[in-house]
Amino acid sequence: MKISQRAVQVQPSPTVGMAARAKQMIRQGLDVVSFAVGEPDFATPEHICQAAYQAMSAGHTKYTAASGIPELKEAIVARLRAEVGLDYDADQVCISNGGKHALTNIWQTLLDEGDEVIVFAPYWVSYPVQIQLCGGKPVVIETEASCGFQPDPEEVRSAVTPRTVAILINSPTNPTGAVFDQETLQEIASIAAENDLTIVSDEIYRNLVFNGRQHLSIAMLDEETKARTILVDGVSKSYAMTGWRIGWLIGPKDFVTKAGSIQSQQTSGPSSISQHAALAALTGPQDCVAAMRDEFEQRRDFFAEALRQLEGIQCNVPPAAFYLFPDISAHLGRSLAGKQIDTSLQLAEYLLEQGLISTVPGSAFGAEGFLRLSFACSVEDIERGVQRLKTALEI
Ligand SMILES: Cc1ncc(COP(=O)(O)O)c(C=O)c1O
Repeated sequence: MKISQRAVQVQPSPTVGMAARAKQMIRQGLDVVSFAVGEPDFATPEHICQAAYQAMSAGHTKYTAASGIPELKEAIVARLRAEVGLDYDADQVCISNGGKHALTNIWQTLLDEGDEVIVFAPYWVSYPVQIQLCGGKPVVIETEASCGFQPDPEEVRSAVTPRTVAILINSPTNPTGAVFDQETLQEIASIAAENDLTIVSDEIYRNLVFNGRQHLSIAMLDEETKARTILVDGVSKSYAMTGWRIGWLIGPKDFVTKAGSIQSQQTSGPSSISQHAALAALTGPQDCVAAMRDEFEQRRDFFAEALRQLEGIQCNVPPAAFYLFPDISAHLGRSLAGKQIDTSLQLAEYLLEQGLISTVPGSAFGAEGFLRLSFACSVEDIERGVQRLKTALEI
């Protein structure tokens, strides 16, 4: 059967691929420690599940408005106002099937063929593919572990061309857990203003900032920056609700209305039941968010300390999210158990097959020489996994 050129060029997400391989091995009875997952390992809090049952009983089982129910839009803007003082109207929100879908809506609304979007590496795996699928061109700027993965503003400035339409930021960042500091955000905002660019700010990990620090959104800098920024957020990571598929975009009303029109033609509104569950998440008690963040923070400290004991692994302690992103380049070029290991993918495959540890290679995130290790797993698993890492790497 014919397959379009567009489809031929799309590769499945490597993070999903690695997780699927690990699951298959677990089904075969192998005791795999998974450091590959990209979702909280906690159950969705009970009061949120209860709200979903009640929504079904109350008959909220039909199509909703294509861009989402008004109560949830109101709850989203109320929470942003209360938490960080950002002021939006409810009609500046479009609710989608997860943050990933919100991002797709953004690219479809924003990009014409050949438009360029500046993306920082290490980047979340889906960004370049999504941009390309919508006819755009990702222009990748690398960031260094030694600078805490902060972009160099001069590099950003020189990457802008007449075709540049947007700068994409993701702070806190998947896969590094980096948080862009205020000066960096300020520089990015200035470059966007100088060149009249849109800023797309994916803030899906905003509730997982550690050490008592507050999340800083680029939209909080000033009104002009806010007016050129589209925010992306959702309930997946903050409330352990990845399977409920609720995310949203917030931005200028005319942009959001167009994104809503695209969504209305492509998917209609997201699940009515999930929207009611998300409403309970945002309007209900927030102590579950803090409890999960505290647990992640403890695991981060434990994991980072354990890794520090291993030779040839350099690891920043990430200020946010639930991933470590160690530099493992010292182990490339080695032969391990008779296998030549030259790339992070080969190392990840070797660790899975020989060490029974699933990880994601840095190359999937545009950063060869690194591995992403998720700590969305128990401390016992971290302990066992690090021990296996030590054995597999023969250190
Ligand atoms: C950086 C980033 N943005 C967006 C998403 C999308 O999350 P969801 O579609 O579950 O809301 C993810 C999920 O892994 C992510 O890591």
